[in-house]
Amino acid sequence: MKILITGSAGFIGFHICKKLLENGYKVFGIDNLNSYYDINLKLDRNKILKKYKNYLFLKSDISKPERINNLVKKYKIKLILHLAAQAGVRYSIEKPEKYFESNIKGFFNILEISRKNKINHLLFASTSSVYGNKNKFPLKEGDRTDHPESFYAASKKSNEIMAYSYSSIYNLPCTGLRFFTVYGPYGRPDMAIFKFTENIFNGKKVELFNEGKHKRDFSYIDDIIDAIQLLVHKIPEKNIPFDIYNIGRGKSESLLSFFKEIEKNIGKTVKLKYLSMQKGDVKKTHSSITKISKKTGYNPKKNIQAGIRNFVDWYKKYYFN
Ligand SMILES: NC(=O)c1ccc[n+]([C@@H]2O[C@H](COP(=O)([O-])OP(=O)(O)OC[C@H]3O[C@@H](n4cnc5c(N)ncnc54)[C@H](O)[C@@H]3O)[C@@H](O)[C@H]2O)c1
Repeated sequence: MKILITGSAGFIGFHICKKLLENGYKVFGIDNLNSYYDINLKLDRNKILKKYKNYLFLKSDISKPERINNLVKKYKIKLILHLAAQAGVRYSIEKPEKYFESNIKGFFNILEISRKNKINHLLFASTSSVYGNKNKFPLKEGDRTDHPESFYAASKKSNEIMAYSYSSIYNLPCTGLRFFTVYGPYGRPDMAIFKFTENIFNGKKVELFNEGKHKRDFSYIDDIIDAIQLLVHKIPEKNIPFDIYNIGRGKSESLLSFFKEIEKNIGKTVKLKYLSMQKGDVKKTHSSITKISKKTGYNPKKNIQAGIRNFVDWYKKYYFN
């Protein structure tokens, strides 16, 4: 089975590529290896993937689609998992143009490649951020998602709508994956768990926004990879072949307790600095995973104690060995 995975040198991309390669897939990875965060982490992930003989990597930007289109055509690829994007809520306040280039224009190019090459199934990354600030939990796929708090969320919501129109007009089967705060080994340095860990090891104080009252549905990477694998071949069969799933753990934890758990694992304590709410942030996320569980039997297994232990173990090995 062949699959094209964009964002293959990214956090989630790396893990799903590795898993599918282990399961016998031929994986075509695309990434522009940009420097939004430490490029060495992307290069190291890619180095691991390149050891698999069934991995073919193309350094390419989704905002320039010709080479990607040629690759899909040449190898008759029929399955695409689109993860490449400019991620991050806060950076979208500083640099909205990056989100336009990769998440709007780039996404349009992926839709066009999929249409022209008659792709059997396009799965793409969306985010819990599309829900904005809500009062009713858990968040369900059918809830309103038309009040994004950031341009990042707006770009991802646009992707869902753009994909829906391609499903409707061109009959392109599409599945949107609304990920909820994913963490784990080889994770993203711009995310809280990474920053907390880095600061605790360096004895630096940790900043907590919204006075530490934020709550998140923290999802461990292995569970997310399970979910993607369960959905890869679930091609939407409705009249308009389009579907959206929450992919989370189905539980919400405070950022403060997450931080305390990291401190416990590292065996060090640092000072906390409480800050007010940041523009773009939402106060709480908590996914309903009923839809994906009913459809696929998805059952997330990792609690935050075990997940954080794995992350901290990886961090020590990666940075101090
Ligand atoms: N990690 C999370 O908690 C989370 C939560 C919700 C949604 N998501 C979404 O899931 C996807 C994967 O996220 P991640 O955490 O692995 O992020 P990541 O930044 O680690 O991975 C994205 C990869 O895409 C690449 N990329 C970016 N723009 C590109 C372009 N124009 N052309 C080619 N490659 C490009 C980057 O170099 C990077 O390696 C993203 O779409 C993100 O928005 C992630």
